[in-house]
Amino acid sequence: MSAPIPARPVNSRLLSVAPMMAWTDRHCRYFHRRLAPPALLHTEMIVARAIVYGRVERLLAHDPSEQPLVLQLGGSDPEELHQAARLAVPFGFAGIDLNVGCPSPRASGGGFGACLMRDPGRVAECVRALIEAVPPGTEVSLKCRLGVDEQDTERDLDRFVSAIAGAGCRVLTVHARKALLGGLDPAANRKVPPLDYERVFRLKASFPKLTIVLNGGLNRREQVEAALRHVDGVMIGRAAYQRPWWFSRLSAALHPWIPHPQDRISLLRSMRTYVEEQLERGERLSEMVRPWFGLFQAEPGGRRFRRLLSEGARKTTAGWETVERALEALTLPIAA
Ligand SMILES: Cc1cc2nc3c(=O)[nH]c(=O)nc-3n(C[C@H](O)[C@H](O)[C@H](O)COP(=O)(O)O)c2cc1C
Repeated sequence: MSAPIPARPVNSRLLSVAPMMAWTDRHCRYFHRRLAPPALLHTEMIVARAIVYGRVERLLAHDPSEQPLVLQLGGSDPEELHQAARLAVPFGFAGIDLNVGCPSPRASGGGFGACLMRDPGRVAECVRALIEAVPPGTEVSLKCRLGVDEQDTERDLDRFVSAIAGAGCRVLTVHARKALLGGLDPAANRKVPPLDYERVFRLKASFPKLTIVLNGGLNRREQVEAALRHVDGVMIGRAAYQRPWWFSRLSAALHPWIPHPQDRISLLRSMRTYVEEQLERGERLSEMVRPWFGLFQAEPGGRRFRRLLSEGARKTTAGWETVERALEALTLPIAA
C-alpha cells in the first residue's frame, strides 16, 4: 500500500447500519452508501488475529465511497487488538468498534464476543489498547448486549459501562436484549431474548456524556423516531438489509437536508460502472446483487425481479444485462 489514507471522521451516530457477517461485505456497503448517503456503515466483524496473521489488504480494502466506515474487530487479547488496529490505520477507517455482542459458540470458545460482558476489566484493557493504536479522531466504540445468561441487566450492565467509559470509550451501541450463551444459536439469539429499549434509555440517562446508540428489532419509522427522543442514534441491521428502500426512506426522513435517491431503478442503474469494474476484477455478480434482492419487495413484479436476478447472476458469464432483464420484470411505475 502507498501513502496512508487519512482517517475520515464519523459525522454522526444518528443512523448506522449494523455489522453483519456474510452480509455487510464491501459490495453491500457500496450499495448502502448509495441508499443512505449520511449513514455510518460498519464492516462485518473481523477477528483481530486474522488481520495480524492474515491477508490485510484482502480483509480491509474498501471503496473510498463507503466512508464513513467503522471497522468492527473481534478479539479479547489487548495486544492482538492493538496490532490489528495499527495495521488498519492506513485504510482510513472512521472508527474501530469492539464486538462484545456475538453469541456464537466460535466466539465464546475463543473468549470474545458476548461472553466478554462478564469481564469488564479485560474489555477496559482492550479499549485502552485500541485507543492507543489509532490516531486521534478515530473513534473507538463498543457494541454489546444488555448482559449474558444470568447477569443482572441493571447492576452488571452499569458496572460494565462504567468500566469501559473509565477506559476512554465514548460511544456504545447496545443490542437491547441479553445473549443466552448456553443453548441458543446466533439466529435465535437475535429473536428469542426479549427486547428492552427502556433499559437502554435508562443507560443513557445514567451516562449522559456517552453517545448511546440503540440496536435491535428497529423496523418502523415511528419506532425509530420515538427512540431518538431518548438516545443519540439508532443502528439498523436486518431491516436495512432485507428492506433497503425502507432504509433509504428512513435515512431521508432523518436527514431531510441531505439529498437522497428518489427512485430505485435509477439507483440500481447508477451501480453499473461499479459492477462492471468489479466483474473485470473477477468478482462474482451473484455476490454483488444479493443485497439488492429486497429492493422491490411488495412492489408489483418484485418477486420475479428477485428470482430473475438470483438465478441469472449465478451463471458464470452473467453481466449487467442480467440486471436489466430482471428490471424488465417490474410493473411500472414503482412507488417512490
Ligand atoms: C447475518 C447477521 C450477521 C451478524 N453479524 C454480526 C457481526 O459481525 N457483528 C455484530 O456485532 N453483530 C452482528 N450481527 C448482529 C447485528 O449487528 C444486530 O445487532 C442484530 O441483528 C440486531 O439488530 P436488528 O434487529 O436491527 O437486525 C449480525 C446479525 C445478522 C442478522
